[in-house]
Amino acid sequence: ITTIIICLLIGYGCGCFSTGYFVGKANNMDIRKEGSGNAGATNALRTLGIKAALITFLGDAFKAIIPIVVYRIMFADKTAYWELYALYIGLGVVLGHNFPFYLNFKGGKGIAAMGGIIISIADPRITLAGIIIFVSVVAISRYVSLGSLIVAWLLPLNTFLFYKESPVFLHMMIISFLFTILAYLRHWQNIKRLLSGTERKIGVKNK
Ligand code: G3P
Repeated sequence: ITTIIICLLIGYGCGCFSTGYFVGKANNMDIRKEGSGNAGATNALRTLGIKAALITFLGDAFKAIIPIVVYRIMFADKTAYWELYALYIGLGVVLGHNFPFYLNFKGGKGIAAMGGIIISIADPRITLAGIIIFVSVVAISRYVSLGSLIVAWLLPLNTFLFYKESPVFLHMMIISFLFTILAYLRHWQNIKRLLSGTERKIGVKNK
């Protein structure tokens, strides 16, 4: 339990670095007051353009990749079930990203960070499938949120497919599902807009 708390805290600390917020500040605006109000890459694209979006995406993905890969290098061969602890670091990152304490707990929606977690932990086939599905859904529908909601199922799917034999399978499954639940909770307004046909499309001027 101590290890789990440490993993969550390290993750939360890294996740709190809200790339979108700082990119916005560098452009003299609070990204949380523009567009969809989300401190994420999609809203950076919508309000500031492709360069800002790319920086935001990379910053948010790497704040998950770096702690998990460092942990993996240091402990993977010393700790049983390193993937489980890596998931806890990832959970901390998403919580920090979504609810940064110094921004009144108003951050992003955690999808780029989840992408970083998937890249760092999941089977490469899952990562590749995720990229293909996400890009296709977004290219066809122009709804980033729809792509996000679909790929939010990748961590539980990866756990289900590749960790069935693990003694900590059930534990991993529950934590993996938590990511999906968190993503859906943070996308609640997007889901409502998608259902009513009012969701913002990318590449279309509708701030
Ligand atoms: O990852 C966030 C994306 O799914 C939706 O962003 O700004 O359209 O709410 P946004």
